[in-house]
Amino acid sequence: MLWEFVMKITLSVIKADIGGFVGHSDSHPDCLAVAEKKLAQAKSENKVIDYHVTKCGDDLELIMTHQKGSGCQEIHGLAWDIFVSATEVAKKLKLYGAGQDLLSDAFSGNVKGMGPGVAEMEFEERVSEPVIIFMADKTSSGAWNLPLYKMFADPFNSAGLVISETMHNGFIFEVLDVKENKRVFFRTPEEIYDLLLFIGSPARYMVKNVFHKDTKQISATSSTQKLSYIAGKYVGKDDPVCIVRAQGNFPAVGEIVEPFAEPTIVEGWMRGSHYGPLMPVAMEDGVPTRFDGPPRVVAYGFQLAQGRLVGPRDMFKDKSFDDARQKASDLAYALRKHGPFEPHRLPLEELEYTTMPQVMAKLASRWEELGD
Ligand code: F6R
Ligand code: MG
Ligand code: MG
Repeated sequence: MLWEFVMKITLSVIKADIGGFVGHSDSHPDCLAVAEKKLAQAKSENKVIDYHVTKCGDDLELIMTHQKGSGCQEIHGLAWDIFVSATEVAKKLKLYGAGQDLLSDAFSGNVKGMGPGVAEMEFEERVSEPVIIFMADKTSSGAWNLPLYKMFADPFNSAGLVISETMHNGFIFEVLDVKENKRVFFRTPEEIYDLLLFIGSPARYMVKNVFHKDTKQISATSSTQKLSYIAGKYVGKDDPVCIVRAQGNFPAVGEIVEPFAEPTIVEGWMRGSHYGPLMPVAMEDGVPTRFDGPPRVVAYGFQLAQGRLVGPRDMFKDKSFDDARQKASDLAYALRKHGPFEPHRLPLEELEYTTMPQVMAKLASRWEELGD
């Protein structure tokens, strides 16, 4: 049937840390159960086509499909309502940091800027529509910069850039400057050096979207909240999510997961103030415990069928990622040996927690001017 091929679907992934179990390490099943119940009801009322509730560490992840477009008030309101209800459960259980990502008391139309992380894209569902949803804990949105670059612009990662006619002309990267609240588009491969100048500084410049150059199809999107900028003080990390479409005009599934085989160093470990390796893990291992980490990433694969989420497949469960986990552990160990020294600890101006003002005040009278 023709309508099967032209159906416009919105895939929304909205997440928040509404309380940790135990400490910041995991999510409590009762909180997930609340989300499951509310989304089952929303599905029965045709508010969403389909949904999947999951977690990564202490983050509750709501994966939803519908036909209402990105930024839809009804869908964002539904997610907000679920986070508020799950927070009530978290408060009853005295879970840690209950409601920590809900920065406002009232919903005002869109969860953007209110604490929860959002990645959503609207597209015409293809004859077959494989998507991969990445969810991370103990890191920030810039963590996707390097993997997205490898998937969509690095021929040593994605063979399709070289040998597939559908990918050979490249992709367009939309990059945000989260400090200045600006954006810019880069065409690849021709502008990769300019692109790298910015996205190589992932604390400030973040890849928001990637588009297929020939067709302008949306290829990938990420959550780019910076909670510390939103709240003006430390309120937790962004623990970002990212959606990537696979196959055909886009990288193959294997090209999409491949960047995570070589663990990269990201910010966000312990107190949001340390660099650590991003460890790709199966869902049951998305429970950062050692020194509150190391940072984790999980990948869920789905096939969409008229908006139905067929899946998930737990993509990093594959044994072939065992060596990446080992490498991440080795890197973690090497960094941990630095204790409170950089480059394990973030530079002073990037620290999420700091005692510097108090210590400076205490020492004010003891700092002596040095003459020339
Ligand atoms: C939170 C995190 C943790 C906390 C740490 C201290 O996502 O990464 O490392 O920052 O456990 O937490 P508080 O300040 O809440 O005691
Ligand atoms: Mg937490
Ligand atoms: Mg978290």
